[in-house]
Amino acid sequence: MSKIKSIIALEVLDSRAQPTVAVKVVLENNISAYAYVPSGASTGSYEAVELRDGDSSRYLGKGVKKAVLNIEEKIAPKLKGQLVKNQEKIDQIMIDLDGSDNKKNLGANAILAVSIAVCKAAAKDKNIPLYDHLLSFSPSKDGAYKLPVPMLNLLNGGRHANWASDIQEYMILPVKAKSFSNAMQMGVEIYQQLKLILKKKKYHLGLGDEGGFSPQFKDNSEPFELLNKACHLAGYTPGEQIKYGIDAAASEFYSKNKYHLKKENLKLSTQELKKYYINLIKKYPIASLEDPFSEDDWTGFIDLNKELDPKIQVVGDDLYATNLNLIKKGIEEKASNAVLIKLNQIGTLTETMAAIKLAKKAQMKYIISHRSGETEDSFIADFAVAMGGGQIKTGAPARGERTAKYNRLLVIEKELGKKAQYSNFPFFA
Ligand code: PGA
Ligand code: ZN
Repeated sequence: MSKIKSIIALEVLDSRAQPTVAVKVVLENNISAYAYVPSGASTGSYEAVELRDGDSSRYLGKGVKKAVLNIEEKIAPKLKGQLVKNQEKIDQIMIDLDGSDNKKNLGANAILAVSIAVCKAAAKDKNIPLYDHLLSFSPSKDGAYKLPVPMLNLLNGGRHANWASDIQEYMILPVKAKSFSNAMQMGVEIYQQLKLILKKKKYHLGLGDEGGFSPQFKDNSEPFELLNKACHLAGYTPGEQIKYGIDAAASEFYSKNKYHLKKENLKLSTQELKKYYINLIKKYPIASLEDPFSEDDWTGFIDLNKELDPKIQVVGDDLYATNLNLIKKGIEEKASNAVLIKLNQIGTLTETMAAIKLAKKAQMKYIISHRSGETEDSFIADFAVAMGGGQIKTGAPARGERTAKYNRLLVIEKELGKKAQYSNFPFFA
């Protein structure tokens, strides 16, 4: 029954060399916990506001001192003395204190850092693993410890990799692994084969923001060809043990009612882009398409979702921005059968869980996700296990800020022992 004694905030750095917010919550019994928040690049317009200073004399205007001050001067005094276990109440105090509908006053980066640090401190206070504490108020309390299928982003393009391809992410989904660790092993074997293939082709081996390789591809299909080859060399059959996923992040190449695929010199209408995807699906074993259309192109989403085999996942990221009202609209209009869940798009743990609860009730699949700008904070690993959605998207199995999450999941799997379940994509089987 510990109470919050103090909250300290500071600027730290994310994986793209940008400042981000860190928070330390200290309890009266001196138990404490830190949280660092991530940051997106291909951000949706409907996301909660990430407060940046705009002071060009520091960090090219990207400093987060205002958010830090908001925590120490405005949030901390209100939360001092609150029982740390009261996550919902604490989140509501911050929501009310901000008073806006998009957290523009205090900053979603300020609020989320506190929300997560409070949760971690509460777990430590109870002396239980973070995933167990999260499970105690999860909307998915079926008692199962579900290790998620990793959606491994092996090839990076778009805004995350200097437009190596128009499509932002090429992911592999180990759909027939025996366990989470087995899925990671498969993913890494394919990643390493991919590296050898690129080396042979004399492609450059630099990594994009999410740890995938990012040579300038010839077109948007070449990455699939490379993945096919890498899977075969690693001893796996694409479409069998491995399926593919993309995040088109299509808002990023949409302007004036057209989708500009620069790699292929194409300007496509919504209907033409839909056909383009359907052709890709015929050629390659794609099981998941995230943001195939721009965030305001509801027609595109609705039509594609209607036309595809329901086993194929249409995922709304920028479309929903983890926002309850937008997800409600998506359920009503059948705009997608899955939603990407990013804590910093909405700004508190409580609201994120409400979004998951809503999706779950409507039998919409949900994927816990990182951001392209990340830190070594591995909170989403525990969160994914406790939320039970069975999928996590946290980049390639490379770069410390990505492996922090995968390694935490490996540790959780070990800790759980026989209790660990691996979801193995029943819906894609
Ligand atoms: P972001 O990219 O973090 O740059 O928004 C991730 C995504 O689009 O899923
Ligand atoms: Zn996305």
